[in-house]
Amino acid sequence: MESELKGKRALVTGASSGIGAAIARELAALGVDLVVSGRRRDALDAVAAECTARGVRVDVVVADLGRPGGAAALWSGARATGPVDILINNAGFGYFRPFRAVDWERDAELVQLNITSLVELSRRFVDDRTTGFAHDRAHLVNIASIGAYQAVPHMAVYAASKAFVRNFTEALHDELRGTPIRVTCVCPGGTRTGFHEMAGAGNYSWLANASMMSAEAVARSAVHAMRRGKRNVIPGVLNKLACWSVRLVSRRIAAWMSGRVLGKPRADALPARTAA
Ligand SMILES: NC(=O)c1ccc[n+]([C@@H]2O[C@H](COP(=O)([O-])OP(=O)(O)OC[C@H]3O[C@@H](n4cnc5c(N)ncnc54)[C@H](OP(=O)(O)O)[C@@H]3O)[C@@H](O)[C@H]2O)c1
Repeated sequence: MESELKGKRALVTGASSGIGAAIARELAALGVDLVVSGRRRDALDAVAAECTARGVRVDVVVADLGRPGGAAALWSGARATGPVDILINNAGFGYFRPFRAVDWERDAELVQLNITSLVELSRRFVDDRTTGFAHDRAHLVNIASIGAYQAVPHMAVYAASKAFVRNFTEALHDELRGTPIRVTCVCPGGTRTGFHEMAGAGNYSWLANASMMSAEAVARSAVHAMRRGKRNVIPGVLNKLACWSVRLVSRRIAAWMSGRVLGKPRADALPARTAA
């Protein structure tokens, strides 16, 4: 049966690897044209080639969303070649380190990427759909994390950024109910991607390893939830249980539990702080 998304066009940020690349492939299989974005041109070209082989048109826009101006440049690059009916705000990174061991520049980049650029792209998308395509179905999907459900020591800024994404996205879902724009928040748990190496994480407990999912499974769950217009989805049974169980304990205990599950930061994994 032909998908209701066939012929639509999606902008996927962070599409050069991991969950974003898997979402791009999943959408291509449903006949959705794509704009794939990230900083690594070669990796984006490889994902674009895979998606093109599934019979859809793919445009590549290289943009750094960790810097001011990145989101505006990406949006105008994407819109220059066609409409954007689906926006997947997936690009993001975190670091698994004590707050005091990291330079401000890293935090500034994290906040710019995980929060500021995500809000800017959401705003440009909602404005565009409200003025230009008032009656056509559109989807906004923001990728948060199960880290949004409690404070996470050693991932303080990252987990707080994802709590922002979750609250922002759920509020937008409620505001836009009854309009053609459907808004979905996706909260993945541990997913086998380059994220962990980049974050300096990986000494995980058995529970964290047991609940680890593939990027493809997370992408399937995200696209399924988007098509159903769901407000929030947590892929995976163990991840759902983890998010549900924090409601039964105090916030202090929930944060302590997250520290036990994630284990210790890998000291060798990230560059040392350059300035005190
Ligand atoms: N993996 C997990 O366990 C997990 C769990 C919960 C939530 N998440 C979330 O899932 C999302 C995708 O992560 P992933 O696991 O797929 O990790 P990943 O494989 O490292 O992918 C991250 C993507 O973000 C892009 N990106 C990073 N910095 C960027 C920047 N400054 N400007 C533009 N793009 C940038 C990267 O592209 P370039 O390098 O080409 O720029 C890459 O495509 C993130 O928001 C992450 O927080 C991941």
